[in-house]
Amino acid sequence: MREMRKWYKYFLDPLRRGRIYLPIDSNFYDHEKAMGGYKADDAYLSKSTFFNKYFWGYHLGRFECYDNFLRKHLKKDEDVLSIASGRCANELFLIEDGYKITCSDLKVFDSYKETKTLFPQFEFMEHDILNGPLYKKYDAVICLSLIYLFNEEKLLTFFRNVSNSLKIGGHLILDSAGSPDNLLSYLIHDVFLKYEMLGIRLIKFLLTGRLQGFVKKHHGYRRTDEEIIETAKQSGFELLHHENYAFTTEFKRSHLLNKAIKPNSIVEKTFKTMREC
Ligand SMILES: C[S@@+](CC[C@H](N)C(=O)[O-])C[C@H]1O[C@@H](n2cnc3c(N)ncnc32)[C@H](O)[C@@H]1O
Repeated sequence: MREMRKWYKYFLDPLRRGRIYLPIDSNFYDHEKAMGGYKADDAYLSKSTFFNKYFWGYHLGRFECYDNFLRKHLKKDEDVLSIASGRCANELFLIEDGYKITCSDLKVFDSYKETKTLFPQFEFMEHDILNGPLYKKYDAVICLSLIYLFNEEKLLTFFRNVSNSLKIGGHLILDSAGSPDNLLSYLIHDVFLKYEMLGIRLIKFLLTGRLQGFVKKHHGYRRTDEEIIETAKQSGFELLHHENYAFTTEFKRSHLLNKAIKPNSIVEKTFKTMREC
């Protein structure tokens, strides 16, 4: 089995100098910050303002891709657990349509009260999936944009605990988040985006005379599809369905390419990988 590859992000810090290394996010508050916070705002005035801000078009349409796959593979009479739900936008959109989903994350998030007021049927609990399985067993588990944070040992634990939270014959719907590890994703993340940011830093230096700090942040891990499927197999999972979405997302991380690529353009496929095991 090939080694998973570390996924780095590069950015500038005007308040610091030199090269700075930031480790991977390791607690709920780091994750919350990385997601732009989970606080309530004006969007919580009504269901439509909530979905307009936090579902439709959010993160370049990531949630619409999830919704497409989830509706194909979840049944309304299934008892579903969502792990690492964050602000729970996808889950709430499905709950509104009659799906039975309990959300969870490491901690109760800031806008929990406002969410419950807007969606009284909303159920949420604190759970760290690395700490153990749920007491209750579910027909299905969904997990969107989490496992990129896990090294191999944690990924094994994740699959084992999810498997033990499912009824016999239950299924897991998983988004691996980020691009699969391959030559193209290596060239984008480890070469193009890095040197683009160094170029921006140089241009800023030439314009202002100030050299900003160059930050290398360990964002997570990239894996091939085969690596994830292989690890899942060790906990008794078998791959049932697999679709690729959001091809342009990785390119849109580039300052240069961002404006050139239209969202939902014809190449909007591949890269973000959703799997049903
Ligand atoms: C990138 S966010 C994804 C949130 C949401 N599912 C989405 O797609 O926008 C990752 C979430 O995973 C949660 N998380 C991180 N480690 C976790 C763990 N061990 N168990 C459960 N949730 C975890 C974080 O608190 C964070 O809310």
